[in-house]
This record gives sequence, structure tokens and C-alpha cells, in this order.
Amino acid sequence: VEGMQDMSEVVERWGSRRAFIIAVTGAAVGLGNIWRFPWMTGENGGAAFLMLYVVFLVLLGLPVMIAEIMIGRAGRRTPIQALTHLARDAGKSRHWGWLGLFCGVTLFFILSFYSVVSGWSIEYLVDALSGHFASQSPQEIGSAFDAFLASPGRVLFNHTLFLFLTMSVVALGVGGGLERLNNLLMPLLYLLLVLLVGYAFTTSGFTAALAWLFMPDLSALTPMAIFNAMGHAFFTLAVGAGALMTYGAYMPDDQSLPRAVVTVAILDVAVALMAGIAIFSIVFSQNMAPDSGPGLMFVTLPIAFADLPGGALWLGAFFVLLLLATWTSSINLAEPMVAMLGSLGMARWLAAVLIGVGVWLMGLPSALSFSIWSDVRPFGDMTLFDLATTLPIDIMLPIGGLLIAFFAAWVMEGTRASMAIGAGERFYRHWRAVVRWVSIPLLVVVLVGFFLS
Ligand code: PFF
Ligand code: NA
Repeated sequence: VEGMQDMSEVVERWGSRRAFIIAVTGAAVGLGNIWRFPWMTGENGGAAFLMLYVVFLVLLGLPVMIAEIMIGRAGRRTPIQALTHLARDAGKSRHWGWLGLFCGVTLFFILSFYSVVSGWSIEYLVDALSGHFASQSPQEIGSAFDAFLASPGRVLFNHTLFLFLTMSVVALGVGGGLERLNNLLMPLLYLLLVLLVGYAFTTSGFTAALAWLFMPDLSALTPMAIFNAMGHAFFTLAVGAGALMTYGAYMPDDQSLPRAVVTVAILDVAVALMAGIAIFSIVFSQNMAPDSGPGLMFVTLPIAFADLPGGALWLGAFFVLLLLATWTSSINLAEPMVAMLGSLGMARWLAAVLIGVGVWLMGLPSALSFSIWSDVRPFGDMTLFDLATTLPIDIMLPIGGLLIAFFAAWVMEGTRASMAIGAGERFYRHWRAVVRWVSIPLLVVVLVGFFLS
């Protein structure tokens, strides 16, 4: 057994420092930025949410992101193995492997709704390319989205197709090729977003959008906003579910982790802000409600593109690029689960099939939440879709992040952790102090506060 684990040790490294940053950006940028950030910001009072989210990003997201990648870099194995080995080497409990398993469960839940929403994007890609939106009024575009969600067959078909595409890539082990394609094309997505912001500037809702995003209304600082902002800080950086540990394992030895991580976070925030400015400009110029729910992106962007010359093509291109981004993010979600089953000796294709079937089933509540199961409300007002997104994002990711932070700052050997961060002893001590006395207590307070309220 010992020998087998050594063989699984990752020996390959990223060719250059930039490659590492681009790869982590690929995991970070996805639906979280373009779909969930505007949705959450709209739901939680605008600038107040953005403010909270940035605070959590700095105090929790970045320190825990460093912890997570550092563990992978020091362990250079799958999450379960890395945690077990590092704990053993530090003379601590061997049970930390369970945290790896918990991460796997979180990834499972996230992928289940991520695939459903990516499926919505497939539908919109096809609609866009067939020129569907060009002749529609904003009202028609809005009701078309509701009608689509209300038809279980179409939603399920797209969910199935997207998950099949994701698990095929994982089963065949060709994720690397797709990732390179994604890395090559992502700048085009950023360019399209810049174009959208330029368009937003010409709309009557632009100033209102800026005010909504940047002038906080402090009465909007509700417990729910705090809770959502914390979860979103983890989700958008892809932190708290062990997905980034693998990336650490591939990092060049001489690269400084903090600098790389800050670069990724800035890019991630920039993408979210551009999407937010574009989407809220349309919201305010069309007199729509900012709190339009998870459909916000889907009912605003077609309106924007319909206004531009060659709009159908631009909108199509946008959804192609978005799907490429969500495809790579989904592969990042699936890969560690398949690797964990693989380390138990299961064939890769079988692991991929099992995970795929499981995730498909788990996606049913999300997929059917707007149609045949729209009246199922097990907790208060929350729909199945609300539950399927809130549980993994707002609860499981922060709990995983808390345990990862605790492991990195209290369990691991200091010298080893410091070396794996690669930014010197002084930085290490500062980082550890922040994690021990700021990040961990803050996480505990918000989580406990939520469960009590
Ligand atoms: N960071 C991704 C996004 O913003 O869309 C979502 C994500 C990917 C979360 C991978 C977690 C993960 F492991
Ligand atoms: Na993100």
C-alpha cells in the first residue's frame, strides 16, 4: 500500500508560473462570476453585498485559498492522501482523511446544480444562434426564460447533455487538452465582457447600475446577506472543497503562492464586476427588478445583445465561451471525486460513470424545482433550487474551508507549511496569525450566527 501511494505522487510540474495562474483562473472563473454574483448582489441589496463579499474575499477567501493550495503543494497527492500523510508526518490524528471525503461530497453537490445551470446555457446558446431573441421584446425574453424552466423535458435534456460532456472528458482523461483550449479562449470572454460594459455605458441604466453596485445602503446588511457573501467568496474562488489542492501539486517549486493567488482573485473580481455592471445597467434601463432570482443573467444579456449589430452571433459567442468556462470548472469539480474513487482501486471509466449517474440524480431537484417540484418547500420559503445551491455553497464550502484553514494553521508542521507557501518565513507567520486569529474565528462566528438565527 505504501508503495502504491508513492507512485501516485505527482511528479509533473507546470511549465511556467503563468501556466499555474491561468489554470487556477480557469477553475475560478465560471458561473459564480457571471451568473451567481449578479443574482446574489441583486437579491442582497447591491453594494452592501459587494462590500461584504470583498471583505470576506480578503479575510477568508485568500488566506484559505493559500491554505488549500499549500496543502496540495506539500502533500502532492489526492486530497485524502495529502491530508492523511501531512497529519501523520506532523504526529497528529490520521483521521484528517475524512476531510478529503467531506470535500468530495461538497464537490458532488456543487456539480449537481452547476450542471443544471450550464444546461440552461446550452439552451440559450442554441436559441441565440437560431436568432430566437432578435425579434423579441424584453418582456417576451423574460417570460421565455420562465417558460423554458417550466418545461422539465428541455431542462433535463440539457442537464444530461452537459453532464455527459463533462464526465466523458474526465473518463477519457483528456481534461488537459480542454483546459488548454479554455485558457486560449478565455481572453475572448473577457473581451466580450468589456464590450458589454461599453454597451452598458450607452444605456440609460448605467449610472443607476453603478450606484446600485458601489453606493452601499447599510440597511441591506442583513444576516442573510452576510451569510450569502461568505459562501460566495468561497464559491467564486473555488475554495473549500479541495479542488485546488490538486493544482498545488502541480506548482513549480520556485513560485510564490500568495502572489499567484492575489492575481487570480483580482481577475475573478474583475470578471464579476464587469458582468455586474453590464447586467444591472440592463436591469435599470428596462425597469426590471434587481432581485429577479437565478434567471437574472438569462433575461438581461439577450436584451443587451439584441440591441447590438450582429447581436445573435455575439450572444452565441458569449454562451460558447461561458460554456467553455463552466465545462472546465465542472471538470475541476468532477476530477477529484473520480481520482478519490480511483485511489481505492476503481477503474477510471467506472468511477466517472458512477459519479456521473449520482450527480445526474442529485441534479433532479435543481432541474425540476421550477416545474413539477416547484411547490416542494421543505424549509420555509426556499425552493429545491435554493436548497441545492445554498447547502453546498453557503454551508459546506465554509465548513470545508474552516477545517482546511484549521489543518493548515494548527495541524501541519510549520516549516513544511512555510516552504510550501514559498514566500518566506515572515510571510508565513503573518499568514498563520491571520488564519488563526481572524479567518477561523470569523468563520465560526458567521456559521454559528447563521444556525442560531
Ligand atoms: N469558482 C467557480 C465559479 O465561480 O463558477 C465554481 C467552482 C469551481 C467552485 C470549482 C468550486 C470548485 F471546486
Ligand atoms: Na469565480
